[in-house]
Amino acid sequence: MLPSVWIHFFDPVPVAVRDGVLSVLGRSGVRPAPMPAEPDAYGLMVLSAVDDRVLDDIRLASRHAVVLVLAVAPGRLSPPALWALLRAGAADVVPWPTLPADAGQVCARLERLRTVRDIVESPRVTRTLVGNSAAWRALLRRVVELAIFSRGPVLITGESGTGKELIARLIHDLDCRVGKREMVIVDCTTITPELSGSEFFGHERGAFTGAMNARDGAFALADGGTLFLDEIGELPPPLQAQLLRVVQEGKYKRVGSNAWQHTNFRLVSATHRDLDAGVADGSFRADLYYRIAGSVCRTPRLAERKEDVLALAAHFQAGFDGADGGEGFDEPVCQYLITRGYPGNVRELRRVVSWLCHRHAGSGPITIGDVPEDERPLDTSPSRNGVQARFEAAAREAIDLGLGLKEIGQAATECAIQLAIEQERGNLHRAALRLGVTDRALQLRRAQQRPMH
Ligand SMILES: Nc1ncnc2c1ncn2[C@@H]1O[C@H](COP(=O)(O)OP(=O)(O)OP(=O)(O)O)[C@@H](O)[C@H]1O
Ligand SMILES: [Mg+2]
Repeated sequence: MLPSVWIHFFDPVPVAVRDGVLSVLGRSGVRPAPMPAEPDAYGLMVLSAVDDRVLDDIRLASRHAVVLVLAVAPGRLSPPALWALLRAGAADVVPWPTLPADAGQVCARLERLRTVRDIVESPRVTRTLVGNSAAWRALLRRVVELAIFSRGPVLITGESGTGKELIARLIHDLDCRVGKREMVIVDCTTITPELSGSEFFGHERGAFTGAMNARDGAFALADGGTLFLDEIGELPPPLQAQLLRVVQEGKYKRVGSNAWQHTNFRLVSATHRDLDAGVADGSFRADLYYRIAGSVCRTPRLAERKEDVLALAAHFQAGFDGADGGEGFDEPVCQYLITRGYPGNVRELRRVVSWLCHRHAGSGPITIGDVPEDERPLDTSPSRNGVQARFEAAAREAIDLGLGLKEIGQAATECAIQLAIEQERGNLHRAALRLGVTDRALQLRRAQQRPMH
């Protein structure tokens, strides 16, 4: 039985369609409720046209809720408009009334979304994988769905220190195979062509000088569990070729034996490299790539999830032993943590928090004196005006991303408009007042931003 689901109808959905949707869903056990002021859980938004107001509302609602869109007269919506709904945060767009009369498609999607969402929010996940940013939550939803509803190989890409190994462990933990065995980790940076045979395939006694006893390799050890090939992008080409058959068919031979062995593991691989580029320049075999990359997940850089910095810092602080680690961080330290750059991503943040905690003495929050000397911001000139200082971190990131002055200006403007509209809960007039422009100027700006609609 589905719990209650909020439903929101956008104008101009006709009243007859409204009644039809409600009665069909009602017959299928969905208990519709009005959209709460702060939408959470999950809900349905029913629309027959897409405009800026619709997109803004979906953006707001999908911050804390999983939103499924029912498109009445879907033929009238262009593909760009449908993609825009997904970009705004909708989990899916289901056509109406092409559904079977029991609304089974809607219910099945809601069930799936609920299962994934419940797991993403369960302590099992949140205890170890900290973060509530949109980028992180989107990754978790994808990973949880893959772990539970598919068995195919997963490739995790992302910069160093972004949590690839944590994600691999989560996929293994959530695997609900009966009698599941261990996760076996192979660090491909340490595998040499000479060693690889034995490491991967195992060997028979006497297979080579020094092989005193038979030994299982990673493929045998991972049977019934997960094989995690970490940094698979570092694997030299001859070893890439050796992996093909076992990854595809689950068959391999031990070194020194002619008998085929069978194994059955879930393959999870990770790399900080761009393997698409590797395939293009020939350093990574295309056939292996397609076998390991059944699904690809990318772990975001910490710079893409700045709003998670303080939660992560608190998580690490709580994990460090000793009464002197401090309790929380005072405001200037919070600012310092948020504005600092983290080329080493979450691992670097962990290291920074560790320094702070080790320098801190006594109870109470960590204060700026705990920031080591060589870590302190260089430019503390009082002439720098406050607004500029606040923009500094974002501007630095934009420059790092290769944006030019014009693009930076545009991005800042778009962002300010978006935020003002969100803060005014979609009221354009009030948003214009806050931004000090006329309603018309705001509308023009928005039209320029979204030429599609
Ligand atoms: N979302 C997160 N919540 C809590 N801890 C995290 C999170 N992401 C990363 N970490 C921590 O950051 C460190 C690096 O994570 P992990 O080893 O999974 O990254 P990685 O992407 O595999 O890095 P590398 O490419 O360097 O091997 C670990 O200490 C991990 O616990
Ligand atoms: Mg790693």
